[in-house]
Amino acid sequence: MSTLIRGGTVVNATGAVAADVLVQGEKIAALVAPGFEVQADTVIDATGKYVIPGGIDGHTHMEMPFGGTSSVDTFETGTIAAAWGGTTTIVDFAVQAKGTSLLSTLDKWHSKADGNCAIDYGFHMIVSDVNDTSLKEMESCIDAGVNTFKMFMAYPGVFYATDGEILRAMQKARETGATIMMHAENGIAIDQLVAQAIANGDTDPVQHALTRPPELEGEATSRAIALAKVTGAPLYIVHLSAAQALDAVTKARDTGQNVFAETCPQYLYLSIEDLAKPDFEGSKYVASPPLRPKEHQGELWRGLRTNDLSLVSTDHCPFCFKDQKELGRGDFSKIPNGIPGVEHRIDLLHQGVVRGELTVERWVEISSTTPARMFGLYPRKGVIAPGADADVVVYDPMARQTLSVETHHMNVDYSAYEGMELTGKVSTVLSRGKVVVDDDGFHGGAGHGRFLGRDLNQYLV
Ligand code: URP
Ligand code: ZN
Ligand code: ZN
Ligand code: ZN
Repeated sequence: MSTLIRGGTVVNATGAVAADVLVQGEKIAALVAPGFEVQADTVIDATGKYVIPGGIDGHTHMEMPFGGTSSVDTFETGTIAAAWGGTTTIVDFAVQAKGTSLLSTLDKWHSKADGNCAIDYGFHMIVSDVNDTSLKEMESCIDAGVNTFKMFMAYPGVFYATDGEILRAMQKARETGATIMMHAENGIAIDQLVAQAIANGDTDPVQHALTRPPELEGEATSRAIALAKVTGAPLYIVHLSAAQALDAVTKARDTGQNVFAETCPQYLYLSIEDLAKPDFEGSKYVASPPLRPKEHQGELWRGLRTNDLSLVSTDHCPFCFKDQKELGRGDFSKIPNGIPGVEHRIDLLHQGVVRGELTVERWVEISSTTPARMFGLYPRKGVIAPGADADVVVYDPMARQTLSVETHHMNVDYSAYEGMELTGKVSTVLSRGKVVVDDDGFHGGAGHGRFLGRDLNQYLV
């Protein structure tokens, strides 16, 4: 089965060129000069459109247990929503519960995801119980294609790791080439501020941000960088939200340390003002780190341009307003943490191109090519080139759309971006050569997606 994507502009991180793309089976077979005669079973007209590598969302939480409930997108619904938005690979987090092993955790996440994903997927591992066994098991995880380990400086009593535990895991990372991913917020200090706010009767969702000030993200980020420096471990800061944290990352990168960071669309577009919405609406925007005052957004956009922020992931972690977010009425600290967004990352980042903040190549780089290299998937993913998987998005840069819960495909009862008007929209999505989304709907299915064992981070020096 062959497909020719004809008449479009192929955009890779390295440049944009008018070319037709020939897909054979699951792979890209050739880039062909426009108009060059090529036989194919099917032709997709991409005139006036971009042809870009499928998006890679390196940070999702499908079916994730949190605070006595579970994120509502299953691997099936979440990956279908991702496909609608032009994302053809996710890397989701397996979560080690305290007292359990990493390998049984990995088995558990395979049993949730295998056969249920509409697009390809890999796993990171959340390490919440550092001991001799789990440190040893990190090696087996790496052999099984999972070589990125998330740790938490936040959430004491749940996921929290002490500096000593982080140091030990980082030593193992240094030894194996694995990357430590860090949720960098000072959870010990935050817990005091949260307890004080509740004791004062300050219980509204906006308190979530006021008790997690940006300085405590900056401090934790600096501390993680120092621990990484001492151990020589590669470090990746997840969901960076604050200018103070970006400053720490920038300084470390300037010294040549293997430090990387992602931000998320919610930190680029939403702010503490959303958390302050009346009638408990603010709960829809509770995630950690919290949404910040608007002035942080400009810094994050700058970081994306300068490559101090390497890429953008969603941290998609959907909890319904009804019944789930509502668990925190009267006590903001009980609101499940997370914002849905897996469907909208490519479109939201495209606004950076529309507004002249990003080049079209940088848009592709931060949403596909860099995640592919950071998470050891390149050149199978993240590029339109012969031999790569035919994960291809035909993107109409002129189409208009309005984001809404009425039209999105995520399994959650609100949109964090309700009513937002965007320029640009996905036209057609191929996942390993199969058209999964086009003008007349979704043509993929659970089970098409395959597990991706990943190589080590390709940015390490
Ligand atoms: O609030 C968030 N970010 N929820 C998902 C879990 C995490 O810390 O990434
Ligand atoms: Zn986190
Ligand atoms: Zn997350
Ligand atoms: Zn169709």
